[in-house]
Amino acid sequence: MTLSRILAAGVALAALSHGAANAQQAPAVDLKAAEARAAATVKQMTAEEKVILTHGPMPLPFFPGTVMPKEAIPGAGYIAGVPRLGVPALTETDASLGVAWVGGLRKDGATALPSGLAQAASWNPQLLYQGGAMIGSEARAKGFNVLLAGGVNLMRDPRNGRTFEYLAEDPLLSGMLVGAAIRGVQSNHIISTIKHFALNGQETGRKYVDIKINEGAARESDLLAFQIGIEQGQPGSVMCAYNRVHGDQACASDWLLNKVLKQSWGWKGFVMSDWGAVPGLDAAIKGLDQQSGEQLDKGVFFADQLKAKAAADPAWSARLDDMNKRVLTAIYAAGLDKNPAKPGGAIDFAKNAQVAEETAKQGIVLLKNREGLLPLAKTAKSIAVIGGYADSGVVAGSGSSLVHDEKGPAATRSLGGDGPFAALMQQSYHRSAPLKAIKALAPQATVTFRDGRYIADAVEKAKQAEVAIVFATEWRTEGLDQPDLSLPDGQDALIAAVAAANPNTIVVLETGGPVAMPWLDKAGAVVEAWYPGARGGEAIASVLFGDTNPGGRLPVTFPASVNQLPRPKLDGSDWVEPNFSGDPEPGKDKLVADYDVEGSDVGYRWFARNGAKPLFPFGYGLSYTTFSRNALKVAGLSASFTLTNTGKVAGDDVGQVYLVSRPDGAKQRLVGFQRVSLAPGASQKVTVKIDPRLLADWKDGGWTMPAGEYGFALGANAQDLGPVVKVKMAARSWKD
Ligand code: BGC
Repeated sequence: MTLSRILAAGVALAALSHGAANAQQAPAVDLKAAEARAAATVKQMTAEEKVILTHGPMPLPFFPGTVMPKEAIPGAGYIAGVPRLGVPALTETDASLGVAWVGGLRKDGATALPSGLAQAASWNPQLLYQGGAMIGSEARAKGFNVLLAGGVNLMRDPRNGRTFEYLAEDPLLSGMLVGAAIRGVQSNHIISTIKHFALNGQETGRKYVDIKINEGAARESDLLAFQIGIEQGQPGSVMCAYNRVHGDQACASDWLLNKVLKQSWGWKGFVMSDWGAVPGLDAAIKGLDQQSGEQLDKGVFFADQLKAKAAADPAWSARLDDMNKRVLTAIYAAGLDKNPAKPGGAIDFAKNAQVAEETAKQGIVLLKNREGLLPLAKTAKSIAVIGGYADSGVVAGSGSSLVHDEKGPAATRSLGGDGPFAALMQQSYHRSAPLKAIKALAPQATVTFRDGRYIADAVEKAKQAEVAIVFATEWRTEGLDQPDLSLPDGQDALIAAVAAANPNTIVVLETGGPVAMPWLDKAGAVVEAWYPGARGGEAIASVLFGDTNPGGRLPVTFPASVNQLPRPKLDGSDWVEPNFSGDPEPGKDKLVADYDVEGSDVGYRWFARNGAKPLFPFGYGLSYTTFSRNALKVAGLSASFTLTNTGKVAGDDVGQVYLVSRPDGAKQRLVGFQRVSLAPGASQKVTVKIDPRLLADWKDGGWTMPAGEYGFALGANAQDLGPVVKVKMAARSWKD
């Protein structure tokens, strides 16, 4: 039986909302018509024209020998068009969190959304749609028509330097959110990617770490996130990854690109390479359609070499036609030719800042709140603000995703590196100072600031104030993993000392992922603000003073220590020097990361399997109000429950439905979720559809559900679960 027949039997695919019933829909895309048009255009192309859409440079003057194409906009990529056939050039920018800054080269700026984790902590697909739509509109106004967005690699290691760009550790949450963001981007008649396909779980040895994982485990986890994201978002392009999988570079993996993506999932768009990730011409036969940032590879493989092969070999000729057809299908499906993006468009930055602020507010997670210390009274008399450059701004993650406004960063701190990659090592801050925002909300208070470099000085100030707020930052960048889960620069010691001096100490974390918090029992309150983006300071202050009731929930598990992880030692981290090009050092290119240790039990699933207690579980988050969650009913592939605000102030809760057991034993998987806003005393009944893939195993080429009893529970988070509801299900098996 196929998945569509199962769905037709009880659940329509279009109605597979996973609790995202409110997520907006982008305009319907007529893929069949786009494909037919693409095929007709390919027929008209000359041999010369067939190798235009297949490759292009990175139009940035950072790399020796780069010739900037005349019509290119400085950004990540440029693929020339075919004017004779009305095919537009592809102008590409990084855009995970906003239109990327590229070192301020364009002398413009863009609106920075909070980090991917912050966005995901909202558990709100509609919010991600709005963020994607906002980024897409800014990109369009700058003349870009392809956005390198949609980062959806699962967090398999909390030390991954790019964790902040990604969304979550769960395939359903990640897939639904990234799909919504992609729909938002593409609602602007531009193409979005989804990336990095696949299993790109660490930066250490990023171009050669070889991922070992059995197919079933990959299909039930990382690949499922991509699959759901692609179904929901219909991205025009998939960007393949730097790492190796089963010995092959991901951008030349026949298994990933041909077998899974194109054959099994039937996806019709084009695969673009990551920048400098193409090992050779053969990658085309393995499923790669376009060589991006070609000057970063060892050669330009997808131009003359490809043309010569196609002239000599019918199989290559057919492949080349397919490559062109795929790029053209994406162009026509998004309407790039009929709705050309032109530079110089108007941008409403004030309006877009509101999107960034709302996203930050919805993603902030309250982790601890001793005896209602938060929200702070606006009548507070004295507040000591300490550390984290809170007088300047909020920290941003670095690398290709970095976004700044037109004035550039409020502050930067250089942490090394050289050549074109030095920019990846600049720790920078958005112009949104929490100190100023706190003063604005507590005008009567004496608010002092100490930078936190001297512990004794900070302690002294904290003792003199009613309340101390310590801002702690944990900066991450592309190309480099974190060595452990500590806060750098002695901030753990600073927090411990301040919290010991003043029991009313509130810790605001601006982190790119989970951190360990050895001082947790001493702190009065802890707020996880992630990298909160262009209006992060205002969003944090709004939560501290209760104008915003925090409703964010952790999209990743915060482990108590690295010893709880499947790989306590980050593979390769002890012998690889920080190496931003990612190219291996001579003799050091053999590195294996064994994902079969946890298989598809990523994150909270691993903790459930081991009965381990993390520092904070997946799905966790406190509120200034209280909720009751009950009446879980599961009928077929539909779960319903009721959420009630039992407290005194309005607030948002996230209903989370987990599979907890199957006929073959315990097994935890998130199967549905929905965020709701509730006035005091109000209740809402929620119904979510369950995707049968979340109940199944992937084995022997398809999905299988054993017959018998399945247990489900409604959770406040992955470890705080309500009563188990048991449902009998029939055996099923189907292909993608
Ligand atoms: C990153 C991609 C990015 C590309 C272009 C690569 O280093 O891995 O995420 O889109 O550069 O800037």
